[in-house]
Amino acid sequence: MQRRAAALPAGVGTTLPVFAVRASGGIVEDVDGNRFIDLAAGIAVTTVGSSAPRVVDAVAEQVGRFTHTCFQVTPYESYVAVCEKLNALTPGDHDKRSFLVNSGAEAVENTVKIARYVTGRDAIIAFDHGFHGRTLMGMTLTGKVMPYKQGFGPFAPEVYRAQYSYPFRGTGDLASTLSFLDKTVGASQVAAIVVEPIAGEGGFIVPEPGWLAGLSAWCQDNGALLIADEVQTGIGRTGKWFACEHEGVVPDLVATAKGLGGGLPIGGITARAELVDQIHAGGLGGTFGGNPLSCAAALAAIETIEADGLLDRAAAIGATMLRRLAAMQASNPRIGDVRGRGAMIAIELVDADGSTPDPELTKSVAAACHSEGVLVLTAGSYGNVIRFLPPLSISDELLDDGLGVVEKALATRL
Ligand SMILES: Cc1ncc(COP(=O)(O)O)c(C=O)c1O
Repeated sequence: MQRRAAALPAGVGTTLPVFAVRASGGIVEDVDGNRFIDLAAGIAVTTVGSSAPRVVDAVAEQVGRFTHTCFQVTPYESYVAVCEKLNALTPGDHDKRSFLVNSGAEAVENTVKIARYVTGRDAIIAFDHGFHGRTLMGMTLTGKVMPYKQGFGPFAPEVYRAQYSYPFRGTGDLASTLSFLDKTVGASQVAAIVVEPIAGEGGFIVPEPGWLAGLSAWCQDNGALLIADEVQTGIGRTGKWFACEHEGVVPDLVATAKGLGGGLPIGGITARAELVDQIHAGGLGGTFGGNPLSCAAALAAIETIEADGLLDRAAAIGATMLRRLAAMQASNPRIGDVRGRGAMIAIELVDADGSTPDPELTKSVAAACHSEGVLVLTAGSYGNVIRFLPPLSISDELLDDGLGVVEKALATRL
């Protein structure tokens, strides 16, 4: 940690001050031999598990053949295969095209570029509690100021912020959001709505049923595009390939990353063919996007989800977490809300009044979990959410152990 502090800026944060040497099967091991139960999956990345066997084999095989050509210079088949998979797996049976980038933020940036290009409009709608990355457009779209935006302005122009549906707090109903779009922004100005189907960094907020579908219908009625940021929710995390499916919503553009690469960096943009095909050659892409190692890993990760029935596993893990956490909530009034979908579940911690956010309690519960060997993450605009994102390779026994530690940490902090 001393070397880290001397060599890195403080702006790159640390959840847990340990150094990993290996990870797999729901365990992260550090240099001192401490073994942590992993309820974080590297922030929803190692959905198939860290060093999942198919991913390891595919990457090892690829690294010996070639490491990089730049797809736009000399194409290779695996990139095309990942795009075919994204086209097949994303919601809707319309004609689609995909291309690959390096990260979630880059994927979202590209969806906005495409939306503005094809609509000829400027305005982009984002939401409070939203998170879309740390690039200029990513942080502009992001709702939370500290730490993501503080001091980093000015931001990209023509981004308007609406209220996200937040059932526990009773804010962001569909009618007022649509009225904001019509009256304050102007329907004819809107190129796209960028929305997470479940707000990830915002604290796993599941919007009211019908809210997402209402946004989608508004877009269709007004010539705007619906961009689903499925960077955190996508690729099986919620028990379906994409979280929009829970609401029967078919977005015009989908941004993916995180779980797609099975631990290697890759992001994807999937768009309606008739839209993205309008864009001139060279307007999209990048040097590293869809690197051959990442493509090999992505194909292996997707195969693992398919072959090992991991969508069902995500649903089962979610059911276990919801059951255990709801039981804790019944005897603990400081757990204001238990929510989420599939292997993406969170608790929102509040004061004794049942609603005022309690970020101090949240920090203290998370720290207690860490010192007892369970890796959890906090989230939420008010810093009062603990989120659980186990890899889908975790055993029932480890998950139970981990939740037991969470239960104890909560019970001793009432
Ligand atoms: C919904 C969402 N969008 C975008 C991003 C940014 O992804 P990346 O950190 O890969 O740039 C994240 C990362 O947490 C995310 O959760």
